[in-house]
Amino acid sequence: MEAVTPLIEGGIFAYLNYLVPAKRKEILEILVNGLKRMEYRGYDSAGVGFEGTNTKNGSHELKTIKQKGKVARLEEEIAQTTDLDFEKEFDTHIGIAHTRWATHGEPSPTNSHPQRSDPSNEFLVCHNGIITNYKDLKSFLITKGMVFESETDTEVIVKLVKHISDKHKDSAISFRELVELTVQQLEGAFSLVFMSSKFPGECVSTRRGSPLVIGVKSKAKLSTDHIPILYSKDHRGLMNPALHHTDSTTEFHPIGNKEVEYFFASDASAIIEHTNQVIFLEDDDVAAVQNGCLTIHRIKRTLDESATREVTTIKMEIQQIMKGSYSSFMQKEIFEQPESVVNTMRGRVNFETNQVVLGGIKDFMTEIRRCRRLLFIACGTSFHSAVATRQLMEELTELPVMVELASDFLDRQTPVFRDDVCFFISQSGETADTLMALRYCKQRGALIVGITNTVGSSICRESHCGVHINAGPEIGVASTKAYTSQFISLVMFALVMCEDRISMQDRRTEIIQGLKNLPSQIKAVLETDEHVNTLARELYQQKSLLVMGRGYNYATCLEGALKIKELTYMHSEGILAGELKHGPLALVDKAMPVMMVVTRDKVYPKCMNALQQVKARHGNPIVLGNNDDKETQQQVNKYIGVPSTIDCLQGILTIIPMQLLSMHIAQLRGCDVDCPRNLAKSVTVE
Ligand code: G6P
Repeated sequence: MEAVTPLIEGGIFAYLNYLVPAKRKEILEILVNGLKRMEYRGYDSAGVGFEGTNTKNGSHELKTIKQKGKVARLEEEIAQTTDLDFEKEFDTHIGIAHTRWATHGEPSPTNSHPQRSDPSNEFLVCHNGIITNYKDLKSFLITKGMVFESETDTEVIVKLVKHISDKHKDSAISFRELVELTVQQLEGAFSLVFMSSKFPGECVSTRRGSPLVIGVKSKAKLSTDHIPILYSKDHRGLMNPALHHTDSTTEFHPIGNKEVEYFFASDASAIIEHTNQVIFLEDDDVAAVQNGCLTIHRIKRTLDESATREVTTIKMEIQQIMKGSYSSFMQKEIFEQPESVVNTMRGRVNFETNQVVLGGIKDFMTEIRRCRRLLFIACGTSFHSAVATRQLMEELTELPVMVELASDFLDRQTPVFRDDVCFFISQSGETADTLMALRYCKQRGALIVGITNTVGSSICRESHCGVHINAGPEIGVASTKAYTSQFISLVMFALVMCEDRISMQDRRTEIIQGLKNLPSQIKAVLETDEHVNTLARELYQQKSLLVMGRGYNYATCLEGALKIKELTYMHSEGILAGELKHGPLALVDKAMPVMMVVTRDKVYPKCMNALQQVKARHGNPIVLGNNDDKETQQQVNKYIGVPSTIDCLQGILTIIPMQLLSMHIAQLRGCDVDCPRNLAKSVTVE
């Protein structure tokens, strides 16, 4: 089965019954249950869209019910809806549903999906992902008289469908063609499901960079297990003569035009209780159901692509699917990092022009550039992301940079001035100490910048401006993918700060190109998993683990040791190698487990020196270093190699083996890696 790796999470679920009678009550139940199956993915609001009939004039209309909070709240809202005939039966019907993880605009019924094209709900859409050119599209659509009601990027999609539909009102354009024309204008990542009052009983869905799967349920055996791809005209109406174009001759009729039900979802876990016959859509596939027939279309054909989509039989338990093939959410989140770092950079870093734009702080950059000092305040892992980027921040901004633990910062009643810029870094955006430090600095007139993963969180709301790290929801209590995304967000900020500095252009370019290679390099690091597991077996019965390093990798030591502590309950300490002689060396003997981070940067000779000191005390350290550094590898018998990148980004790659190591040790010790004892994901008390 294809690994379902969601990008920005939340979930899409749609249900289409063709000639299978169902009461409205049953349809809504199916939709809500589909959402419940995806609850584990994290979300902050939910909604459903379904077909109704206007009781006054009998016209066909679409209705939506949306609510902030849990699916259970949406269910209550549906139950309280009085103007619906829940017993009404439909032979054919389409309903779409969504759980939203906010990225643009805080959680609210208006920002929830389905988003609508206009007050009469002519078109509805549910969307997972991010549309990066939504601002340009929105400006364009406003000039065409469209009135926007939400803060979402999604609303531009459905308004664009309506705009194109209005333009083609005199032609017999199909629903699917409208969607094809629309998605050709979109940039970013998305999976989408549309319904329309103009096309009752029809559903169109598509994806690019975000998963979408279709389940098929019918009593009769499917007539084929390979659905042929149909090639559509491109947006100029041109067809590539080299390709075979068909229209409706080889449509997929699972059982002719007889009874059939379809389920569209971003996640197979929502479908599996209904059917195990599924089709995984590929990027740029447009799937449409009309008169009960499913067809899959593409605009362009690439040379090596398959001409069919297979109907796969999945044999998995729901629980298994929720975590994909992973044993825990933590493991899933560690393995999502090649995608989550892309989402953090999506629409912000242009690797061709070497430009970086952070939309959420763009308007404040003049003020930020004029500041006297930068302060980075956070707790736990988020604090470590500031430690990790401090050196680069100092280099590229040439400003004094303070990195502070929120609780200590408050205890000290640290002086803060009007010309300070204070950054508050928090995955949840709700950590009490961080939030209180924010209020403290705000009161003193400083500019407040939030760096969070949770749109609409307290830190977001109370900041003057900010950056959403867009890592997608993190469920494991121990933070993993949020760390690498926070790291990248701070690097992007440093790059923006020095964009006009001629003397720094070579350094900027080198870093931006380094960012470009990170996703594939992270994948390569994840391949060390088996090797790291072997080392975990050697370590798991120990009482302690010291993690040493310096320079750019000091944060890796702090964060690595924190992961070991919180997950394995072993004692672990991140030690600055420069401090070895000032105490920690007394701990080293042949029995003390030691890890050392030694990468090929400016402090390499000093790290080698530290390594010799440890070896001289009969220490037998595991070294975490570059995989092309044969010289260091020869010095030790246990080595974890990661690819080399630019010095200031190396910490993104060195932290991953530490995440894996702590997870494996915890599992070997029988600890719950997703919910370590005594800890909470979000610490909302002092
Ligand atoms: C708790 C969590 C950590 C997290 C820290 C800060 O301790 O267990 O994983 O790093 O809070 O949380 P924040 O949401 O502010 O990043």
